[in-house]
Amino acid sequence: MVTETSSSDIPKHVAVIMDGNGRWARARGLPRREGHRAGAESVREAVEACKELGIGYLTLYAFSSENWNRPRQEIEALMILLERFLKEKTPEMHKQNVRLHAIGRLDSLPDRCRNELRRAIEATSGNDGLNLILALSYGAREEITDAAKAIAEDVAAGRLTPDEIDRELFASYLYTSAFPDPDLLIRTSGELRLSNFLLWQISYAEIVITKKFWPDFRKADLHAAVEEYTSRQRRFGAI
Ligand code: IPE
Ligand code: IPE
Ligand code: MG
Repeated sequence: MVTETSSSDIPKHVAVIMDGNGRWARARGLPRREGHRAGAESVREAVEACKELGIGYLTLYAFSSENWNRPRQEIEALMILLERFLKEKTPEMHKQNVRLHAIGRLDSLPDRCRNELRRAIEATSGNDGLNLILALSYGAREEITDAAKAIAEDVAAGRLTPDEIDRELFASYLYTSAFPDPDLLIRTSGELRLSNFLLWQISYAEIVITKKFWPDFRKADLHAAVEEYTSRQRRFGAI
């Protein structure tokens, strides 16, 4: 049973909607891709801050299902950056004992990205430090739909009865089945929406919105968000 906590504890799992790269670039008269490039540095900052704080899981929303609707050139630039990021940063992540995971409809990614991703996940699979989860081609409605479909198939095949379907079972069919639910959700760039991110998993997450654009996000900002989190009273519906 979940009980009231004063939540002075450090969150086990932090999830971040990394938003504002385009506006960061526009404010400097640069093309949007420069904002995405600068955002990669913030990923390193977030990873380091999580390690310092002893956070177990960091999920980063890097590319949504809806982001496929952007202009082709921007999608291509993002995919090239992703591939380069994985190639260049994996050795460093490995050294830092980071274990990489990915959630989303990964089959939609270009082959080169997917291969680089697979390589990075395999290379870090023996690590037991921070779990870094990249949400790529990710949409919560797609995830929930995929889970419903897989459950329906198992029922139809006689592997499962409808009576067995409860919260725990449903969660075990989500892309995130191996991870605890996020305790803290951070969104940068001041937007007050979820944009199809982890709709099931963040049911009781504490939400912290910062006005800073993602490329300006630094370790101190993650520390500040966690401090804000620890000051919240999580009630989970109790009094
Ligand atoms: C977030 O920055 C990165 C991705 C969604 C891939 P945006 O590209 O959404 O930047 P803004 O929101 O247009 O400023
Ligand atoms: C959410 O940001 C997706 C990612 C950060 C990857 P968007 O910029 O795509 O969200 P909207 O369109 O403002 O809701
Ligand atoms: Mg945006």
